[in-house]
Amino acid sequence: MSYLVVSCSLNPESRSRLLAASIKKNIESKAENVEFLDLAENQIPFCDGAGAYSDPITVELVAAISSAKGIILCVPVYNYDVNAAAKNLIELTGPSWMGKVVGFACAAGGHGSYMSVMGVANSLMLDFRCHILPRFVYALGDAFQGDSITDPTVTERIEELSNEMVRVTGALSTEQ
Ligand SMILES: Cc1cc2nc3c(=O)[nH]c(=O)nc-3n(C[C@H](O)[C@H](O)[C@H](O)COP(=O)(O)O)c2cc1C
Repeated sequence: MSYLVVSCSLNPESRSRLLAASIKKNIESKAENVEFLDLAENQIPFCDGAGAYSDPITVELVAAISSAKGIILCVPVYNYDVNAAAKNLIELTGPSWMGKVVGFACAAGGHGSYMSVMGVANSLMLDFRCHILPRFVYALGDAFQGDSITDPTVTERIEELSNEMVRVTGALSTEQ
């Protein structure tokens, strides 16, 4: 079984990248194979609905998404939504998301944006029949100190999300 953790923030001091690193470690501790994709480390083209699909980076992204059974999108909340880089990834790689189990971990500035992933979660469900984990991580700035996640509630939620990803992905794969 292979999983993909995607860090979607382009900020060099990203907090959602810390969530992503912790989730990767957590799933790996269950003896699972986890790939890590950092959108900040790639010169990803904007989706134009045309030539961007044949860009070699897009081809690599499609391969990374296609080969994962479960994907955790670690996203910054921007304007009550996932950031544009996360949305662009989905636009570029669309059909390769078909049937994937998808979880979310968010870094946000305030409590009020906690439903911000719902738009993209709905589109993944309706467009690509993704199974969205009904448990997600939502962390504000005070959950971090430097490069560490210091809020035990967030750490617990990371553990729960990771367990749920492995459990649901495993259950669905034995059904096929
Ligand atoms: C352009 C922009 C828009 C933002 N919009 C929201 C928002 O709607 N709700 C919120 O809670 N935080 C918002 N924030 C705060 C970010 O979610 C917060 O800084 C978070 O840590 C970003 O994730 P990152 O550290 O992984 O890049 C916004 C930040 C930026 C730069």
